[in-house]
Amino acid sequence: MLRVVVLVSGGGTNLQAIIDAVDNGEITNTEIVGVISNNKNAYALERAKAKGIPNQCISPKDYETRAEFNDALLHAVDEMKADLLVLAGFLVVIPEKMIEQYRNRIINIHPSLIPSFCGTGFYGLKVHEAALEKGVKVVGATVHFVDEGTDTGAIILQKAVAVEKGDTPELLQRRVMEQAEWKILPKAIDLIANDKLEMIDGKVWIK
Ligand code: GRF
Repeated sequence: MLRVVVLVSGGGTNLQAIIDAVDNGEITNTEIVGVISNNKNAYALERAKAKGIPNQCISPKDYETRAEFNDALLHAVDEMKADLLVLAGFLVVIPEKMIEQYRNRIINIHPSLIPSFCGTGFYGLKVHEAALEKGVKVVGATVHFVDEGTDTGAIILQKAVAVEKGDTPELLQRRVMEQAEWKILPKAIDLIANDKLEMIDGKVWIK
């Protein structure tokens, strides 16, 4: 049984997609053992509470130094005996010590087809604003392993979504969430939970 801890900062629609996928059997062999948010007001915490999933807020604001926050975050995750950490809209930089300790056991959902519209400063609506500004006709989402870079780890799954005439950043964000994020993030977790991924020359493939 894969023990999954989900790290969140906002509305938690990706967390909800994971919860629902475990409930309906799209994700097997998995238990969500905890939800951690850096934002005490994140609705994602309400979603965890509604499901009876252990949840807590660990915010940099509550610590004197970033190092103390980093240690607290790592301790919390270790305490939950996580096998896999899922960043679902988590807007805090993951401590290097955590990346080392959980090498290839941290995944992130990014709302673009990496390597487009990713890296520092590309998060949330900013991603979709940039895509519309560029006039691309296809966008999408990417699930990737987390390494020391920003949105640079090995790509696991991607799903494309059409841009439509008249799209606003909000409309595009919603479509990317509905048609891509909420599909490939649960799928990636199920693949990992059932040992269906392999790494060949640093690239991830489904066995
Ligand atoms: C989503 O747009 C996701 O792609 C990005 O952050 C947002 C999180 O949304 N990483 P939610 O909190 O899962 O609703």
